[in-house]
Amino acid sequence: MQELFGVIGNPIRHSLSPLIQNQSYQLNNIDAHFQAFHVEEENLEHAIKGLKAIGVKGFMVTVPFKNKVLPYLDEVSETAKKIQAVNVVHLFNGKYIGYNFDGRAWLSAVEEDMEINELTSQNVLLVGAGGAAQSIYYSLSQYPNVKIDIGNRTKEKADNVRRLNLSHKNTDVISLDEAEARIDKYDLLVQTTSIGMFPNVENTPINISSLKKDAFASDIIYNPKATEFLKQAKEAGAQIQNGMKMLASQNVLCIKKWTNNQVDVEEMLKTLEEHL
Ligand code: ATR
Repeated sequence: MQELFGVIGNPIRHSLSPLIQNQSYQLNNIDAHFQAFHVEEENLEHAIKGLKAIGVKGFMVTVPFKNKVLPYLDEVSETAKKIQAVNVVHLFNGKYIGYNFDGRAWLSAVEEDMEINELTSQNVLLVGAGGAAQSIYYSLSQYPNVKIDIGNRTKEKADNVRRLNLSHKNTDVISLDEAEARIDKYDLLVQTTSIGMFPNVENTPINISSLKKDAFASDIIYNPKATEFLKQAKEAGAQIQNGMKMLASQNVLCIKKWTNNQVDVEEMLKTLEEHL
């Protein structure tokens, strides 16, 4: 029987997941269908029970339910528990298990375009301290020799991110001004806030025009394709990557978890590029 997957969120009609997932099933002969579900917050628990009752094998979770979904799942992975946010759920042995793939998807996207071994001794600037920053920090901080500066408008929030992994001794919390003043020291930058996203495309949380030219700058935003942050990085001569590959990697990881099929990230990226 055809398997059913989906995404829950509110609003959900702009989600690209149905398009990329269904296209990928077709290209890879996976007998499944992916559906977006608009859920009202007061119905969240019922919605999850309903998805289980009708046998939905896996679903993504997006705004505003990434935190709220936790109490309604049977189990939650170590990473998702730490971050208190789930963005992928898998039905396994009759149980809904929650995961957070943001950090892993980001790492895998960066790894594709940058030699990951370089990561072992890099100076990294993480800009922002929201949900995406937490997940990315948690993944990055698994590399003990990476020096991570978390730059954020509110230092307290950045400190909460640092506390996600206190065994990483190489993390500093700094202001955006401090980050800007030492921008030429970084090898890898990751912009995790929604600043610069369409339609406010001229905004950036930090000026990075004096970045070194062999640095790598990543922005999790994919609309526009090049944010002001990435434009400045490119002008400085740095290598850049927008959020599209992270989005594709996220979807690749879901398909692997749900169906055990390893689909090609470049193929998925192509679908995305054709539609954005
Ligand atoms: P999420 O939805 O993942 O929590 P978000 O709302 O996209 O995150 O972004 C939150 C991040 O953007 C935070 O780091 C926030 O800074 P604060 O912790 O100081 O609130 C940052 N942010 C939002 N607006 C900002 C602005 N105008 N200037 C600087 N940083 C800003």
